[in-house]
Amino acid sequence: MLVAPSILSADFGKLNDDIEAICDGGCDFVHVDVMDGHFVPNLTIGPVVVSAVAKIATKPLDIHLMVENNSFFVDLFAPLKPKFISFHIEEEKHPHRLIQKIRSYGIKPAIVLNPHTHPRDIEFLLNDLDMILLMSVNPGFGGQKFISSVIKKAKILKKMIKKSGSKCLIEVDGGVNDQNIRDLKDAGVDIVVAGSYVFNSQNYQKAIQSLKV
Ligand code: DX5
Ligand code: ZN
Repeated sequence: MLVAPSILSADFGKLNDDIEAICDGGCDFVHVDVMDGHFVPNLTIGPVVVSAVAKIATKPLDIHLMVENNSFFVDLFAPLKPKFISFHIEEEKHPHRLIQKIRSYGIKPAIVLNPHTHPRDIEFLLNDLDMILLMSVNPGFGGQKFISSVIKKAKILKKMIKKSGSKCLIEVDGGVNDQNIRDLKDAGVDIVVAGSYVFNSQNYQKAIQSLKV
């Protein structure tokens, strides 16, 4: 299992130290939650802070957009050269076009599905994507309870990916901890995002390693 700690739960007063600690602690990606106060009822960080994050991080960035105007934000974050940019299918009229745009920047495109969204909605995009992010909480906040129906959804999606011949990875975001990591692994999940589980722990390295099942 690959692990992407979400810095939403980091201590922003010592963000530098927290990012160093997760990178030294063996994380695979640094998950960055970008919220605009419109698509979700919360507001987080923009390119000024994320460019500082990109300078400190020794692991690639995984940018999760929770915004209304996806195309605008893709242009804003692309110069920071993240590994992935993911956008919500629920907020995009032209997902195929946006995927091509992200790829044209040399960035891996990913689509996010909210808890209610069925993977069939993106069946015809599977061969264009590098990753699909399944939300296991309602987007907007860290520290929420894991919505377990994501396990069934991951299994359905895994089958669809195999059938399509795509090499798409499955990522799960929200409420991930050492209690549900085995079920996620068994369902075929490749990457987990973990915010509060990592940053509320006494030892980030230990917490990250406990998810590497
Ligand atoms: C929620 C964010 C998540 C969040 C996860 O909208 O996308 O990345 O930070 O936090 P935890 O792991 O605490 O649920
Ligand atoms: Zn996220």
